[in-house]
Amino acid sequence: MDQTQRGRFVPDAEMARQTEYALLCRELLSARSDAPKKAYVHTYGCQGNVADSERIKGQLREIGYGFTETPDDADLILFNTCAVREHAEDRVFGNVGALKRLKAEKKDALVIALCGCMVQQPHIAEKLRKSYPYVDLIFGTFAIHRVPELLYRVLSAGRRLIEITPGDGTIAEGLPVERDRGVKAWLPVMYGCNNFCSYCIVPYVRGRERSRTPDAVLAEARALVSDGAKDITLLGQNVNSYGNGCGFDADFPTLLRRINDIPGDFRIRFMTSHPKDCTPALLDAMADCEKVAKHLHLPVQSGSDAILKRMNRHYDRAKYLSLIEYARKVMPELSITSDIIVGFPGETREDFEQTLDLVRRVEYTSLFTFIYSKRQGTPAAAMDDPTPPAEKSARFRELCGLQEEIASRRTAAMKDRVFRVLTEPGDEEGLLCGRTEGNVIIKFPGDPALIGQFTDVRVTRPRTWMLYGEQA
Ligand code: SAH
Ligand code: SF4
Ligand code: F3S
Repeated sequence: MDQTQRGRFVPDAEMARQTEYALLCRELLSARSDAPKKAYVHTYGCQGNVADSERIKGQLREIGYGFTETPDDADLILFNTCAVREHAEDRVFGNVGALKRLKAEKKDALVIALCGCMVQQPHIAEKLRKSYPYVDLIFGTFAIHRVPELLYRVLSAGRRLIEITPGDGTIAEGLPVERDRGVKAWLPVMYGCNNFCSYCIVPYVRGRERSRTPDAVLAEARALVSDGAKDITLLGQNVNSYGNGCGFDADFPTLLRRINDIPGDFRIRFMTSHPKDCTPALLDAMADCEKVAKHLHLPVQSGSDAILKRMNRHYDRAKYLSLIEYARKVMPELSITSDIIVGFPGETREDFEQTLDLVRRVEYTSLFTFIYSKRQGTPAAAMDDPTPPAEKSARFRELCGLQEEIASRRTAAMKDRVFRVLTEPGDEEGLLCGRTEGNVIIKFPGDPALIGQFTDVRVTRPRTWMLYGEQA
């Protein structure tokens, strides 16, 4: 490994120090009582946060914690938080408020910890410090690999700790991972974001883009496949800029091809692609690689050029539509999904109609739609926003209504067709569940022994957002 590559990682000595702290925690906890220790970990937000939680839980496992789904049973309660919209933050405050009683009962026998994107914001950390004195440990997104040390400091001193350090551009490799999705796995390829879309808090709370080396990603992918993973999702805020400026011998399309070459029967997914960096080379790689699911999540955010410009997105609708056209040319069966923000500051009725028009043209499989939420410290927070909330809600409903029509049409066209799905545990109706390559859910009767395997299912009854079927 050359010097520049070494510089991007948390030093080995620091990782070893954390392993020592894990041992110290373990000794301290077992000196206090013989009872097995249990942690309750709840994750808000995106898959990136879920992947972080798997690494936090890996460290907790090393310390000696088992896991529980009931906060009341837990010796440690940890919320990994999200800051992307106000609603996400409100939920965290509500749920933390509800822990006050439990902490009053259990006192030092319970540690309450908060981490993640929301607490990385100084004004939130301050609010928690002042108004939530029973939260024992607060740490930001750059301290994920220091769980043993932080926990030891809280446990040994019996004092609360707030550790919101800025990022230093390094990546912690080699953390233990506690996965909980059976045959489905998340695989982070990069962290952070450089794009500063004007509405978005992510670059502020997650720091600048940094990529794992192709070797690290490939080694983890191989390990996952040999552990039985059947559906691997590569994660990054903008996977198309994977490796930018790193001098790696692989960009994202090349990385996809190399993972595709790993022997085994598994599917590869990835998210998220930013349209400004989505290239024909990526779409060609998707088309060529038989293990890459023919599903593209390509968030457009708005169909209006004026709004896209104010969002700082660096593409226009013409470029977006030409990407979609190329993608469908090389992958006729491609399923496309997107994120759209309704009611961005200054969005007019005409702007919104441009969005409706774009949605009609693209005919998405499904859409994640959000009403704009003002995020403190972002450029959009300072923009004029004269549209009344009721008007924004009406636009939101109109967009959802349009997508519902499109989705029903698309699923109706899937009737009698056969799809290869990865079987997942079923629902309360006693049916098994599966996802098509395009990420549409099919429910079907079958032997639970199929769970974790690929199987062919014929669609019998299409619904708007999902399908019913039978094994083919
Ligand atoms: N990196 C990904 C998205 C991360 S956030 C990308 O660029 O596509 C997921 C989605 O949340 C975004 O695509 C956007 O649609 C939405 N979002 C982000 N900030 C928001 C805000 N302030 N208000 C409403 N929605 C927001
Ligand atoms: Fe946020 Fe834009 Fe980065 Fe996505 S690309 S995380 S929307 S700043
Ligand atoms: Fe993800 Fe929310 Fe952070 S969307 S990156 S957990 S702000």
